[in-house]
Amino acid sequence: MKNLKTVNQYIANLAVLNIKTHNLHFNVVGSSFKNVHEYLESIYNTYFEYYDAVAELVKMQGQMPSVSTEEYMKAATIKEVPAKEYPVAEALDIVLKDLEVMTKAALKIREGAEKEDNFLLANMMEDHVAYYMKQRWFISATLYK
Ligand SMILES: [Fe+2]
Repeated sequence: MKNLKTVNQYIANLAVLNIKTHNLHFNVVGSSFKNVHEYLESIYNTYFEYYDAVAELVKMQGQMPSVSTEEYMKAATIKEVPAKEYPVAEALDIVLKDLEVMTKAALKIREGAEKEDNFLLANMMEDHVAYYMKQRWFISATLYK
């Protein structure tokens, strides 16, 4: 793949999001704590699954995925948040903004992948976008006032 740098940045963001979403999972507070705590677990599990799958696809296609936290911290565009208590709406708003970033990133990778007929990568990004869009709908509906 020609866009390895972009794909490695995507991998870095997934790695950071796995940790960042754990932070929110641990520190969310409010009356719907249990639901949101469990929902955030489903999100970080997906980020972790995607992290693994994208890196494996890079290997499968004969290139080297980023594999160190040092590289991830340099490449990631997702910003971490401090350890503190997060009211439900604040936690979900952070997750929503991260999902927007990941949607744009996946669409960009898909576009590049299509140009070089890398349908495995393009298909994977389409699946990711579908997941991100669905979570954005869930969260927007939850935050509706
Ligand atoms: Fe947990």
